[in-house]
Amino acid sequence: MRAENDTPARAPLDAAALRRAAVRPGGLWREIEVVQSTGSTNADLLARALHGEPEGAVLAAEEQRAGRGRMGRTWTSPPRAALTFSVLLKPAVPPARRGWLPLLAGVAVAAAVTEVTGVDTKLKWPNDLLAGDAKLAGILAEAAGDVVVVGIGLNVSTEPAEFPSPRPGALPATSLRAAGAATLDRADLLLAILEGFERWYRAWQQADGDPDRSGLRAGYTRLSATIGRAVRAELPGGQALSGPAAGVDSDGRLLVRVSPGSEVAVAAGDVVHLR
Ligand code: BTN
Repeated sequence: MRAENDTPARAPLDAAALRRAAVRPGGLWREIEVVQSTGSTNADLLARALHGEPEGAVLAAEEQRAGRGRMGRTWTSPPRAALTFSVLLKPAVPPARRGWLPLLAGVAVAAAVTEVTGVDTKLKWPNDLLAGDAKLAGILAEAAGDVVVVGIGLNVSTEPAEFPSPRPGALPATSLRAAGAATLDRADLLLAILEGFERWYRAWQQADGDPDRSGLRAGYTRLSATIGRAVRAELPGGQALSGPAAGVDSDGRLLVRVSPGSEVAVAAGDVVHLR
């Protein structure tokens, strides 16, 4: 048994092995890189996109010094405790439908985590990955022109004392280790996420971004911890609205039933599950 103050073993990612497993002719993933330390993998891929980097780049970092979260927040993790990576995409779907891309990422991550580790996961809209009532992973999609960079931060071996204190009202953080995962192998997790992501992404693009023809809305709804719950949506401007979460519309927005027969579509903000 591990002594209380031992550092857990945190194996490095092997970029060459990842490439061998996930980069294949005609596949979505063109290049997989692992850097020891960077500011933010999202920022790096957005910068590369400006210089013409094509779709299909995957960048993982063992440590981020300025990891970005949703709504201008930060995302932090000790070196190699989390799986932190970003992917560069140029989705060929109508612009309004691009709102589904971060949700698609959530579906891929949730399914891969459960498949690889046996941990039961759900999604809090838009794409926080939950284990029970705690946050296991976060996803940040950032767009620049026709490029969308999707960044994923999944807490793998993080110990409770290593998490920053949660901001008021936020969910507590958890990790796969704390959730009793059968394995903490970050390479297996990354490969399973990339595989599921590619499958959903192709189906969604083939359906011209349609969430129903691609099966994405059904897949998301199955994994959603939000739909059907009473929620409070805190909007970026400081306003809030409450009611049952009725579903997600064709553009990926959360539909909140604010009164009988009246639904408001929420495109961005924080959702609190009320009960
Ligand atoms: C959130 O929960 O607010 C989203 C967190 C997203 C974190 C990931 S880690 C990899 C990628 N690079 C970043 O700077 N952020 C994302």
